[in-house]
Amino acid sequence: MRIVAIHNIESGVGKTSTAVNLAWIAAKNGLRTLLWDLNTQAEAGLLLGATSNPNRRMVNVLAGRVTLADQIITSDYDNLAVVPGRWAYRNLEQLINGAADSMRVVKALLKPLADDYDLVVLDSPADEPKLVDSVISAADLVLVPLIPGPEALAGWQQVQDISKTCQVSPDQVLPFLNMIDYRISLHRQWLELPPTALPQLLVSYIPFTNAVERMSVTRRPVAEHDGGDLAADAYQGLWQELNQHLP
Ligand SMILES: Nc1ncnc2c1ncn2[C@@H]1O[C@H](COP(=O)(O)OP(=O)(O)OP(=O)(O)O)[C@@H](O)[C@H]1O
Ligand SMILES: [Mg+2]
Repeated sequence: MRIVAIHNIESGVGKTSTAVNLAWIAAKNGLRTLLWDLNTQAEAGLLLGATSNPNRRMVNVLAGRVTLADQIITSDYDNLAVVPGRWAYRNLEQLINGAADSMRVVKALLKPLADDYDLVVLDSPADEPKLVDSVISAADLVLVPLIPGPEALAGWQQVQDISKTCQVSPDQVLPFLNMIDYRISLHRQWLELPPTALPQLLVSYIPFTNAVERMSVTRRPVAEHDGGDLAADAYQGLWQELNQHLP
């Protein structure tokens, strides 16, 4: 089982959109895939049309009374299961804080599922520090969506600092550009000559397209409702490039 986390401390940069589309592509390629949404807003499950609720409480998972498996729901897609976001995740930060080895909580919860899934995609929250540490520590790769601009560099620096704390090697932390709008000169500049602070920047990037935004209406991955969309192709490219880095 390999684990990919999508993280950026900045909100609204495309973590959930990326997590959903990559998980869907992985599943389509035959990998038994689990998408774990660690946010309070439960966006990821909604974007997959997965609306049912697990009947076990997350607090019981942490307490070891039930396993993470009890939180898993199926999606409309073969090979793709989901642990939906829960309002309860607002308490998770606190609970993890109290755990003996807080950095290892996420990895420990996933361990019993190691034979059941080939790939786990973690849709990380932006700003729950302990939970984020635990997510990053569990990951084989951390994928970081960045929208060109000064905030991106600040966010990138923070991800690097967190990764260092979590003892994740720098080559496991991969930034890529998202919401690229060719009409914006800064976006074109970053594509042509990426900032020197981003030596590991992936070649793949995701353009800004209406089809990605429409996922919240269609509640389907972008290629399911608009297969010819530029972003649908771009997520494929990102998935292929990501695969070259997976252990
Ligand atoms: N490539 C794209 N093109 C157009 N819109 C996009 C693209 N990527 C993301 N978006 C839109 O940007 C908004 C934020 O994206 P998303 O929810 O994936 O970000 P996030 O980082 O998960 O946010 P949060 O930190 O709030 O969880 C959404 O409305 C989404 O549809
Ligand atoms: Mg999100």
